[in-house]
Formats: sequence, structure tokens, C-alpha cells
Amino acid sequence: MNVSDRLEERLGGATFSVIRSISRTASCLGVELYVVGGTVRDALTGKSPVDVDIMASRETERLVESIVGQGNASVRKASEFGTWSLTVQDIELDLSTARRETYDRPGALPTVFPGTIDDDLARRDFTINAMAISLNGVSWGDLLDPHGGVKDLERGLIRVLHDRSFVDDATRVLRAIRYACRQGFQLEARTSELLEQGLPYLSTISPDRVRHEFERIFNEPRAAKMVEFAGRLGVLSAVHPALRVDTTSLRAIDAAPEADARRAELLLGSIVQSIGDDDVDSVVERLNLNAEWALVVQDVVKVHGRSKELMDENIAKSRVYRLLHGLNGSAIESCAMAETDPRVAARLRLYLHKLRHVQTSLDGNNLMEIGVPQGPAVGQMLDKLLDARLDGLVVSAEDECGLARQLHEDEDGG
Ligand code: CTP
Repeated sequence: MNVSDRLEERLGGATFSVIRSISRTASCLGVELYVVGGTVRDALTGKSPVDVDIMASRETERLVESIVGQGNASVRKASEFGTWSLTVQDIELDLSTARRETYDRPGALPTVFPGTIDDDLARRDFTINAMAISLNGVSWGDLLDPHGGVKDLERGLIRVLHDRSFVDDATRVLRAIRYACRQGFQLEARTSELLEQGLPYLSTISPDRVRHEFERIFNEPRAAKMVEFAGRLGVLSAVHPALRVDTTSLRAIDAAPEADARRAELLLGSIVQSIGDDDVDSVVERLNLNAEWALVVQDVVKVHGRSKELMDENIAKSRVYRLLHGLNGSAIESCAMAETDPRVAARLRLYLHKLRHVQTSLDGNNLMEIGVPQGPAVGQMLDKLLDARLDGLVVSAEDECGLARQLHEDEDGG
């Protein structure tokens, strides 16, 4: 099958002509070139690929030197695995060398050897990612599909290439979920069995690699579906026993607005709804979360710790404020979305949308002008004024002034 036209259509004219020019350079050096991986998958499904991945049969370094030597091209990044990220005439692409991989033990990074195009396709995760398009001479545009990727794309199946795939690299468990939900695909029956058997091997994957796969999921438009699927398959609890999506979390995920810049934090918040105080450190460690994400986890637990008090029919708004003030906004919001008690949910939302924005009209200087001594007394008085504002006991600067004088006199008198 020749897919040159489809590739040109999906990549666009500018990228396509850069690829043509690189392929001419490669041909002079006797190097074969192929478009590979997700770029092929996306081009065949009518999606414009985000990355342009190109594989060279050998001597990639010489090829890169030659491309850069021709001008209007630069190396953005070179990796130890023989991958170069290039910018050629403003087009970004990745160039790697065909390789064979072996895994010394489950979860280890692979040992890499030079290989053929067939070796390179055979080392990959799923059939839909194990295709290549030739960029060479008369075979230009021919599709190489040794593992039946086109058929699986047509049938909507995610299928591994061999039985050890998830054992070698259990990040593929999370990748399978991502591709399945992204494309509306099913896990092929044997793959589904192998994935289940592969769950224990998630423990062999380093925290950074596991978190990275979660980050990729959280950034997908169908992230909520992916998280839900991961929960249903037991993947979340295989990552850490305290992570799960129960009915309350599912509600939070569904409610997470797609365009919200904090959506990733909300999704994180939703999978830690059931964790306890004792789990916080080990969850943060298992995913090696940065300070911001760690705070989301910690504060979800803190909100839950305060929910009993938030149920109180007669709770003052100032008390709601004091209970939630200083906690992470995404943590509070994910709890609000997951909350089953409507009173608690309403108070969490009241805090987020209203109370946290309330301010006093007076500031510290105003208080010192009426005689409050400089020092902690100023902060304490401002807190009292804010509480009065929150509870509707004062509504204007004059009210605040009156209350401040009265409190000051009471204190002086006392
Ligand atoms: N790959 C793999 N096993 C992994 C990671 C990657 O076999 N654990 C291969 C797949 O063939 C994949 C390619 O490396 O297509 C590139 O990986 P990546 O950039 O992570 O994914 P893309 O396929 O480009 O897809 P997307 O960015 O859309 O997820």
C-alpha cells in the first residue's frame, strides 16, 4: 500500500518538502529513512501528527551533521539512545537510528543495539504503533506493516506484539489505556489478559516514569475516561493501593471542565479522594510528585478531615473560611465535585466562589491610626474584621471602622 499522498496531506506541504530534502541527503550517504511510530498511526487515521518521528537505518550522526552542514538546520537535543531532535527550516522533527532492544529485567530501561527496520518495529508497544512509511527512492510512500497495524486500526484494537510486552515495560499498561480511550478502541482479548497479568510489574517502574504516564493521560481530552478505565482495570491500585476511582471520584472526573488549566490537578485530586492521612507520603513518593501536586494530595486529605464540621447546619461563613483558608484550590474543588453530602459540597463551593475573595476595607495602617498598637494586635484585629465581613455583620468601611473602634476600646478597657 502506498500512502505518500496521505502522509503529505497530514504533515502539510512544508514538512513534507523538508522530509524530501532530508531523504535526498540520506540517499547520498546510503542511509535508508522511514517515518515511524505514532506519526504513521496518526497519518493513517486522518489526524495531523503532533511529532514527526523519522528513523534512519544507520549512521544517523553523519546524516545529522550533513543536514546541519547544509544550513537552516540545528540540533535541539541529542540523546544517549541515538535520537536527535532537529529543527530544519523551522520544522521540528526527531531522528533516531533503527535499533533492537533487550530488557535485562522487568521495568529496566532497555539495552539498545543497532538493528534493522524490522527489529525496530518489532521492539514497539502495539501493532498500531509498529508501522513505517518508506522515504526511499522507488519505494517512497510504501507502508511497512509487518504486525497487522492497519487491520487493528480498522477494527479499533490495541494489540501487543508479543506476550512479554507488559512485563518488559509496564508503562505500556498506561499507554494501552491512553490509546484505547483516545481512539475509542478496545483492548484485543489476549492483550487484555496480558495487561491484567502485567499489573504487578507496574511496581518495577520508577516513580518518574509512572508519573510521566499519568501526566500524559491527564493532558488528553478524554482524560476522565482514561482515569475511569484505569480504575476499572485495577491499574490505579496496582500503582498504589490507596489510589482508586469510586463513585464519588467518578463524579468529580466527569465534572472536571475540559478546558480548565487546572484540570490535571483536579484529576489528580479525584484519584486520591479515598486516601487516608497515613497514605499521603507514600502516594507522593510513589509518583515523585512535585511540591504543587503533593499539596493537592495533602489538602484533599485535610478537606476530608474537616468535612464533619462543614456538615454543621449552623456553621458560620467565617468558620467555613477559617477551615478552608490556605488549602489548595484544586484540592478543594475536586473534593466539592466528589462530595456526596450536598451541604458540604455547597460550603466548599461557597468558599471557592465567594468567601475566599472577601476582603476587609480597612488595612493595618487604618487600624494603627485609630490607636491599635503595631504588632500582632493589628493582624488579630484584621482577622476579626474579616470574620465580621464574612458573616455579614459589617458591610461597609464605616461599619468596619465602628467595629474596630469598639473592639479596641473593649480591649483597652479590659
Ligand atoms: N514506544 C514503545 N514502547 C514505549 C514507548 C514508546 O514501543 N513504552 C514506541 C511506540 O512505537 C511509539 C513510539 O515509541 O509510537 C513513540 O513513543 P511516544 O512518543 O511516547 O508516542 P507516540 O506514538 O508518538 O504517540 P503519542 O505522542 O500520540 O502518545
